[in-house]
Amino acid sequence: MASIDRADPVILSHVLAEHRDLFHLLLSVRTALAAGGPPTVERQTDVLASMHALRDHLRDHFAQEELGGFLEESVTRIPRLSAAVQAILGQHPSLLSDLDHVIDHLEAAPTDPGAWERAQHDFEAFSVRMTAHERSENAVVQAGYNEDLGLME
Ligand SMILES: [Fe+2]
Ligand SMILES: [Fe+2]
Repeated sequence: MASIDRADPVILSHVLAEHRDLFHLLLSVRTALAAGGPPTVERQTDVLASMHALRDHLRDHFAQEELGGFLEESVTRIPRLSAAVQAILGQHPSLLSDLDHVIDHLEAAPTDPGAWERAQHDFEAFSVRMTAHERSENAVVQAGYNEDLGLME
């Protein structure tokens, strides 16, 4: 376990790397969804593959955060962060289910242009929530470790 009187560079760089990976996966779904043209089978395959990759990564990422690590360590360092950390962890189930709904709806009607419009709209809303979630985690780590992470500015 890290000493509580200094920042642990291993934990910090792990958080940064994880959140960068997530950000890139979010971007790749947005790019796939934004590509123009009719909802061909190829396009459907690309978009759903990128959504499933994001979903798998997100599930593992959330599970890791819930097991302990940087959020728990931040509370150990600064106990007043406890309520913020509980609120952040409490967002995980609904974030996963938001993404599941986007995937389910698109899989249910993959050739319907209306389903694509809805997927774009709903994924955008999910991205906004997800980005805010990660930003609040970065803020907790920043407060807990008293370091400027320079992320998600
Ligand atoms: Fe999280
Ligand atoms: Fe996270």
